[in-house]
Amino acid sequence: MSQIVYLNGQFLPMEQARVPVLDRGFIFGDGVYEVIPVYSRHPLRVDEHLRRLQQSLDSIRLQNPHTADEWKARIVELVARNNNEDQSVYLHITRGVAPRDHAFPKNTPPTVFMMSNPLVTTTREQCEAGIKVISAPDPRWEHCDIKAIALLPNVLMRQLAVDMGAVETVMFRNGVLTEGAASNIFAVEKGVILAPPKDNHMLPGITYDLVLELAQANSIPVEVGQISEARVRAADELWLTSSTKEIMPIIQMDGQNIGSGQAGPMFRRMYQLYQDYKNEVMRRG
Ligand code: PDD
Repeated sequence: MSQIVYLNGQFLPMEQARVPVLDRGFIFGDGVYEVIPVYSRHPLRVDEHLRRLQQSLDSIRLQNPHTADEWKARIVELVARNNNEDQSVYLHITRGVAPRDHAFPKNTPPTVFMMSNPLVTTTREQCEAGIKVISAPDPRWEHCDIKAIALLPNVLMRQLAVDMGAVETVMFRNGVLTEGAASNIFAVEKGVILAPPKDNHMLPGITYDLVLELAQANSIPVEVGQISEARVRAADELWLTSSTKEIMPIIQMDGQNIGSGQAGPMFRRMYQLYQDYKNEVMRRG
């Protein structure tokens, strides 16, 4: 079965999906997106993802072409039309097709595209091994809270990591932690989870929120506030979170061990809470 995607009201095989070259997504990167993890065909936190989509659309002054219920129906159908039980749904809206001019075109319908890929999460054993990251100054603009499709700085930052044999680049702006190229970052210090604040310098992750909720529900202390680079480097543990990577322990940054250089006890606890939550969602539907 070929991969079925959604484009402007139609479900069709990926090979048949075509977007005109004058699409403003192609020309300007003028659009926003979402990535929603799907477990046993149930999207995780779909309302939260659709709320963040609305915020992104509001920020770029693009009208939402669909109600939340319309989105959900499309997501459910896309998931049903694709093979895997666990998927990651990618949803992408641009300001449509128009002659090239920076200012917004008038009366131009947006382009709406959705695809779904198999979601392959890491096993507990892979997780236990931990990941290596590098660090770099955050080169991005002042609106990193918008989930914009224009991801050139994130692409360059991620490639920098790959070039160095690492998995992710952790970014710092003016000496404080922002996030990873495609992930949020947490530190642990003396049994307390440190989380950077959800401001305009990072994407407000859905997984980030879930981790903080699980911490709160299980009486694990959390401190939300700016985290200096020195504190990050000296942390007992560092974690990375995202919808597709879930939660992973960072064991080395720039070739230096983080804490013991192994997955830590706080990580193990949060990993289990996350897996339990996921299983509960899958059972509940
Ligand atoms: N990226 N920060 C950035 C810059 C991201 O791109 C992502 C996710 C996150 C984590 O957000 P969430 O927990 O909602 O996935 C933080 C997605 C997975 C991507 O671009 O593929």
